[in-house]
Amino acid sequence: MSESATKSSSRVTLHDGHTMPWIGLGVWQTPPAETKSVVEMAISLGYKAVDTAVLYKNEEGVGAALRYHPEVFVTTKLWNDDQGFDATLKAFDKSAHNLQRDVVDLYLIHWPMAEKGLYLESWKALIRLRDEGRIKSIGVSNFQEEHLQRLIDETGEAPVINQIELHPYFQQEKLRAFHKRHQIQTEAWRPLGKGLLLEEPVIGRLARKYGKTPAQVILRWHLQNNIMVIPKSVHEQRLKENIDLFDFTLSQEDLEEIRSLDRVDGRMGPDPANPKF
Ligand SMILES: NC(=O)c1ccc[n+]([C@@H]2O[C@H](COP(=O)([O-])OP(=O)(O)OC[C@H]3O[C@@H](n4cnc5c(N)ncnc54)[C@H](OP(=O)(O)O)[C@@H]3O)[C@@H](O)[C@H]2O)c1
Repeated sequence: MSESATKSSSRVTLHDGHTMPWIGLGVWQTPPAETKSVVEMAISLGYKAVDTAVLYKNEEGVGAALRYHPEVFVTTKLWNDDQGFDATLKAFDKSAHNLQRDVVDLYLIHWPMAEKGLYLESWKALIRLRDEGRIKSIGVSNFQEEHLQRLIDETGEAPVINQIELHPYFQQEKLRAFHKRHQIQTEAWRPLGKGLLLEEPVIGRLARKYGKTPAQVILRWHLQNNIMVIPKSVHEQRLKENIDLFDFTLSQEDLEEIRSLDRVDGRMGPDPANPKF
């Protein structure tokens, strides 16, 4: 396990030198009208980071909740329709406005959409915005090795993060190894398998063994593999549970047992090679 993910206040150091919390609140499918109160509740419980996107239609709610919390780390994402150099600059302005932030902590290209042929131009726009001081850190989401390699080859800049679907049924070990070679931090979306993994018997047995909930066992597995997590919930008890991960450690044997849950057909969301929305 990373020596730094040992307590709730610990943060990941990204390859650009900035730091960010290991755990953030995901807000995909959090209804826009409820987002402000959910994010406020999460902050009051100790959350220090929020993950949103234009697609989620709730950047305004996140911005309203963060208005008096400049210390909370915010991530948002460029939607597919806004790819291309100029369109990216424009889309970023709108997101920063929605979030009420002059400087956004982390901005990600949401999907490569390779068939559009625009992600390299979008990446160059992110570099420009970072150099102008409007974004602290720049990264991507759902990029595969070939897309990451192209960014590196063409610009000499690797994303600080690749946010990818990752959970015990879909562990992406090959892509994680590529990340490691290029100092790209892995961040898991759908870390709980959208709830489905909570019914997994192996996880249930380990939850009983450690006196924790299935969600806590899964999230702890991520952290012990140096994977950042952004679990989503709108319920206070679950929000509490999902950051209360620092008073137990899964044994090597139990980590291996969870590792064996990986499945060839474990992917739940769109395939970046052939995404259908
Ligand atoms: N980059 C991308 O393409 C991408 C794609 C998908 C998601 N994401 C990001 O990743 C975040 C998380 O992914 P996700 O929302 O798909 O899935 P997830 O976090 O794995 O699972 C969320 C589901 O699990 C439930 N849940 C949460 N904590 C629980 C607990 N302790 N016990 C029992 N059930 C629990 C939630 O229900 P309740 O809300 O009812 O509690 C919700 O239905 C998103 O919110 C978003 O920010 C990114």
